[in-house]
Amino acid sequence: MAVAILLVGGFGTRLMPLTKNTPKPMLTVAGVPVTEHQIAMAKAAGITEIVLATSYLSEVFTPYFGDGSKWGIKIRYAVEKEPLGTGGAIRNAAQLLDSNESVVILNGDVMSSHNLEEQIRQHEALDADVTLHLTQVQDARAFGCVPTDSNGRVTAFLEKMENPVTNQINAGCYVFNPRVISTIPLNTVVSVERETFPELVASGAKVFGYVENAYWLDIGTPRALLKASVDIVQRSGDFLAMPGSTIDPTAVISGGSCIGANSTVGAGAVIQGSIVEADCVIGQDSVIIDSFVAAGAEVENGAKIASSFVMNGEILTIP
Ligand code: GTP
Repeated sequence: MAVAILLVGGFGTRLMPLTKNTPKPMLTVAGVPVTEHQIAMAKAAGITEIVLATSYLSEVFTPYFGDGSKWGIKIRYAVEKEPLGTGGAIRNAAQLLDSNESVVILNGDVMSSHNLEEQIRQHEALDADVTLHLTQVQDARAFGCVPTDSNGRVTAFLEKMENPVTNQINAGCYVFNPRVISTIPLNTVVSVERETFPELVASGAKVFGYVENAYWLDIGTPRALLKASVDIVQRSGDFLAMPGSTIDPTAVISGGSCIGANSTVGAGAVIQGSIVEADCVIGQDSVIIDSFVAAGAEVENGAKIASSFVMNGEILTIP
């Protein structure tokens, strides 16, 4: 058995302006918040107790997730007045967990279908201090990389480089032995990636990699967020319409688009490869391609929009 902490308190600056009013983990992928996908993943791995480590726009999470009973899971909230960084957030949230069970940490901006249950099993079988999910990418230059030895033990945490020594990268899902979490200082800004992990490796702690190349995407940039949603929608069809949405029969929706709850799409509208959040009004004969329409926004009749963010009253090109 394990418990989990979801790190959902970052500013999400790379997704501005979408993250002006909505924290990154509450942006939707295939119609539901990224965090909800992660809760489902944790539950499928047998986890029944989760703490959401919140800070930026913390008030947005509670009304949606409540006590977790809707998902059959117990959810509590740790709120940092000032963001404590990933390590400080884990230490702060762990105070709400009163158990000796393994603690799973999920970065709140990753969509992954790896086998979390197996990652926990390996961690416990090896009596590891920390076990990190590592994924192998084609081009690791954009990532810090994490080499391991022949036993799967992590040997270093390396910053981004032109000629990476391995294509294994930190995939943002960790299993911690709880006694290791208690060594992180309280109420202090700490980064697990830049401080805790390298320090653990340097001190000879048992830090292992769990390598699995299942579907994995960091949704930290607009194009990645769109891709995640399109990928998931396309697993079961050409588009997805959430309950309560109304789509005129002459509208053409395709390319893995998702139409959020209570949104309406007018006659003759064309929507391709896009995310339309909840409560939007999409005007007649408008064309929306590879774009985001933020919750509650309106698109005028006949508008032509491509690779853009649509907020109420403003349309911005995706960088
Ligand atoms: P950018 O500003 O665009 O880099 O996004 P970010 O602020 O989310 O940072 P990053 O992608 O590095 O964060 C990885 C994960 O950790 C995300 O799920 C964040 O929500 C979370 N996170 C980052 N910093 C903090 C923090 O200080 N406190 C908490 N609770 N979570 C954090």
